[in-house]
Amino acid sequence: MQWQRKHLLTIRELSAEEIVAVLDTAASFKEVSSRQIKKVPALRGKTVVNFFLEPSTRTRVSFELAAKRLSADVINISASASSITKGETLKDTAKNIEALNADFIILRHSAPGSAKFLADRLHASIINAGDGSHEHPTQALLDVFTIREKLGRVKGLNVLILGDILFSRVARSNIWALTKLGANVTLVGPSTLVPKEFEEMGVRISYKLDEELEKADVINLLRIQHERQRKAFFPSIGEYTSIFGLTQKRFERTKPDVLIMHPGPMNRGVEIANEVADGTRSVVLEQVTNGLATRMAVLYLTNNAQVGLKAPEVPAAKEVAQT
Ligand code: CP
Repeated sequence: MQWQRKHLLTIRELSAEEIVAVLDTAASFKEVSSRQIKKVPALRGKTVVNFFLEPSTRTRVSFELAAKRLSADVINISASASSITKGETLKDTAKNIEALNADFIILRHSAPGSAKFLADRLHASIINAGDGSHEHPTQALLDVFTIREKLGRVKGLNVLILGDILFSRVARSNIWALTKLGANVTLVGPSTLVPKEFEEMGVRISYKLDEELEKADVINLLRIQHERQRKAFFPSIGEYTSIFGLTQKRFERTKPDVLIMHPGPMNRGVEIANEVADGTRSVVLEQVTNGLATRMAVLYLTNNAQVGLKAPEVPAAKEVAQT
C-alpha cells in the first residue's frame, strides 16, 4: 500500500494497512543500525527540528538519531531554551522555525491537539511526539513492532495494559494500534484511572489484576502520571503497588513466554518490581532500540509523501540502503 501522509498526528486516523507499512519499513531500517556505517542518504538536505516542550529522554534522542541516520540536519529546541519562556506563542515559535526552512517539526507538548494545531497552520511535516494525555503515535508503533518481532503476530494476542490509563497518551495510541491489528486488549487499573468510557474503544476493562495474569500474552505497564493528575486517584503508592504492581510473585503466575513491556520512564518498586523489569521476559530496552528503526520509518515515509514521491510498498533492506 502507498503511504500518503505528510504528518503523523494520531494512530486513531491510521488504517491497519498504514500501520503495517510503518512496521515493515521499520524492519528494513533495523538492519541499517547493525551495519558498520549506520547511515543512509534518504533525508539528505532536509532539516528536522526536535521541538520538545515537555521532558523526554527516549523519544527525543531516538528522533535525533533517526534523523541523523537518514542524513538530515537536526536542531533540538527545548522549552527552557526557547523564547516560549518570554511569552512567545506556540504558533509564532513554530512559524519562526519554519521560516528557517524546517522540513519536519517533531513536537512534544502538554496540550492535547497541539500537533494537529501546527499541522493546520504550517507547511512542514508535523510528527506528534506526545500531546498531553491524547496520543503518542510513534510509541504505539514501536510497541506493536516489538510485539510482532518477538511473538510473530499481533492478531489474536491478549494484551493487558496496566496502570494509569486515564492520563496516558501511550495507552490511547496503543489501544488504537492493537485493536486495529486484531489484538484483544484488556485495561487494568484502579477504577478512578480506568473509566468505563474506554470500552467504547473496543477493549475489555478489569479492576482485578490477579484474575487477568494467566491469560496475558503481553503485559504493558504504565507509570502513574503524577504530572497530569490534579487530585489523588488512589489512597497511596503503597496501596497501588499492593493491588496493581507487577511484583515477582505476580509475574510467576504469567505465561512462560509473556512479554513484559514498559514505555519508560519506569517507577521501579511501584508499577514494576526490579526483578521483573530486569528479567528475561522484559523487552523494555528492546522497545527503545526498536524506537529508532520505527522513527526512521516514520520520517522516511512522511518525507516521501511530502515531496510527492510514491513510497515503496515494503522496501527491502538493500533498497533502503541504496535510497
Ligand atoms: N516513552 C517515552 O515517551 O519516553 P520519554 O518521555 O523519555 O520520551
